[in-house]
Amino acid sequence: MVLLDGKTTSAAIKQQIAKQVEELVANGEKRPHLVAILVGDNGASKTYVAAKEKACGEVGFNSTVLRLPEETTEAELLKEVDRLNHDDDVDGFIVQLPLPKHINEQRIIEAVDPSKDVDGFHPVNVGKLSLGLPTFVSATPFGIMELLKAYNIDTKGKHCVVLGRSNIVGRPMANLLSQKGNPGDCTVTICHSRTQDIASYTRSADIIVAALGVPEFLKGDMVKDGAVIVDVGITRVPDETRPKGYRIVGDVAFDEVAPKASYITPVPGGVGPMTIVSLMKNTLQAAQWRKQAE
Ligand code: GUN
Repeated sequence: MVLLDGKTTSAAIKQQIAKQVEELVANGEKRPHLVAILVGDNGASKTYVAAKEKACGEVGFNSTVLRLPEETTEAELLKEVDRLNHDDDVDGFIVQLPLPKHINEQRIIEAVDPSKDVDGFHPVNVGKLSLGLPTFVSATPFGIMELLKAYNIDTKGKHCVVLGRSNIVGRPMANLLSQKGNPGDCTVTICHSRTQDIASYTRSADIIVAALGVPEFLKGDMVKDGAVIVDVGITRVPDETRPKGYRIVGDVAFDEVAPKASYITPVPGGVGPMTIVSLMKNTLQAAQWRKQAE
């Protein structure tokens, strides 16, 4: 069994990005600038945004975090989005999800200028992805593709089971893995909460991407020997023995599944760091496309 190490893989990609940024700056161009909007007080969201801000510093981007109170209205948030759409100094921005319940997330996503939508959530970018056109790819599936590539995992003609049908992970993941290319060329099955007998699908899978958000959902007896296992889960489970009072648990029962797997991502240190670095890649791409469009 080989661990798919997202930490070292993302560190190497960060170095490449940092080098490209220094070349831009040496050519008299500005540093790419990523803005994150954080609404309210969600603990996990605060952690993710802090990690994105740290990564920006590491690759030499400018970064700004706009912290807005929980009571922010949808109209006020739309105004901020519009301001960022028109701010020439901003190459890309994200609105961290989930948003407070009184705000319609889809309305916010659709208000973002697709050319600054480095999350790849706007319908225009989702549409481009589904057609295999160049676009911003949602960071988690993008990062997983990069991780499979880094480890030269043979995906051609393999049966890949994606657990979860979210707009952010499951659907774009299934799309990317079924596209022509390497990684790609998979036969993909999407399973979800209404799928009957999920184990019957996972047992025939060469590659499993678990993105259900159910801690330790995938058990040892649900995978075949030699499968490649990618765990997207990052649920916070209360744990008094930990300094923070919780631990991060993936969607895979790691101790049972790892001995059967050919490759497996750890949690943490697998998909998480790849997600962050993919957002950096999208931001650099946004800056480059904006420059080309001048
Ligand atoms: N919430 C969970 N994942 C993401 C992400 O990739 N982007 C944003 N904006 N919010 C998220």
